[in-house]
Amino acid sequence: MPERTYLITPGPTPVPPEVAAAMARPLIHHRSPDFKVLLEQTLAQLRRAFATEQEVLLFAGSGTSAMESAVANLLSPGDDVLVASAGNFGDRWTKIARAYGIEPRIHAQPWGEALDPAAVAAQAQGAVAVYITHSETSTGVVHDVRAIAEALRPAGALLVVDAVSSLGGVELAMDEWGVDVVVSGSQKALMTPPGLAFAAASERAWTISERAALPRFTLDWRVTRDSQAKVQTPFTPPITLVAGLNTALTMIETEGAENVWARNRLLGRATREGAKALGLELFSPDDDSSSMVTAVQMPDGIDGQEAYGLLRDRFGVVLAGGHGPLRGKVIRIGHMGYMNRFDIITALSALELVLGDLGYQAPTAGAGAARAVEVFAQLETSRV
Ligand SMILES: Cc1ncc(COP(=O)(O)O)c(C=O)c1O
Repeated sequence: MPERTYLITPGPTPVPPEVAAAMARPLIHHRSPDFKVLLEQTLAQLRRAFATEQEVLLFAGSGTSAMESAVANLLSPGDDVLVASAGNFGDRWTKIARAYGIEPRIHAQPWGEALDPAAVAAQAQGAVAVYITHSETSTGVVHDVRAIAEALRPAGALLVVDAVSSLGGVELAMDEWGVDVVVSGSQKALMTPPGLAFAAASERAWTISERAALPRFTLDWRVTRDSQAKVQTPFTPPITLVAGLNTALTMIETEGAENVWARNRLLGRATREGAKALGLELFSPDDDSSSMVTAVQMPDGIDGQEAYGLLRDRFGVVLAGGHGPLRGKVIRIGHMGYMNRFDIITALSALELVLGDLGYQAPTAGAGAARAVEVFAQLETSRV
């Protein structure tokens, strides 16, 4: 295995040295005054990142546990629920609901499409809640949550959004857009290792959750809310990760969220242009809506999983393969979190080398990296 690993993947993403240093500090106790200060600050930072006045609940677990909490805390057996999905993570909502004995109605669109707000709203009548994904990491599509929230308003269903791979990397204004529940995780745009999950709920969602009858214990929103009201956590939290997250969120706030979003868009643009210059076709949309991850189609006869393995084993370049029907057909390049132009140039160059080994010739040697450099050069004023 190569000595260095380049995580140019949609999660977990690279951890900045500042975040790693914060996590290397001696462990403090979670009932200590020092942790209280850290927690209070971090919860306030999270509220700003979620753009909400509501409490952001913090759980030990991966992003999926926050998704699970949004099923267990809102629903009761027999509830009418709609899942709108156009990819692997949208489908995960259905799997979680079924694990809790809820059979959702499903609005399915082909993988790679953006959810159609009117079509989702048309099916939402009578549903207690509609579950969607913001950045569908499996396809690269960032769904238009704002438009979906607007379209859903007359139906009155709660809107629950999986923002695991979007929060902090692309705009999501929970309160302003009228999103009822947002869930996320630490290891993507938030530049922190995996292990922290978050959920925030609107007043409406809290009211519905009061009568929700599904079982829950460690993921019980009320228990965490009541504990956080005393600036505590109900169970032993991943103290080290909270310290890392605090530093990561400080970095994001210091840079300015909008500058971070702009960087992701630019990195996405360079990735798309570079991939096309290699003669490859894009699976994700060829526009700024796919600003978190780019899915690139593999040329005929080349197995994306083989390319993925070679990239990792020969060069230590970790991209991501395809999920479900896209397995072997696409390679996904992440451009969120602690990444810059050189990560994109590295990803494109390594991809070109590996595809060459597998028998695919790019039109011109180095064309992908060269095109990415051109894109960056046109944007000299950017902070990428
Ligand atoms: C959109 C989306 N939702 C949910 C998840 C699941 O998160 P985790 O693996 O942290 O449970 C991911 C992770 O890739 C994701 O990208």
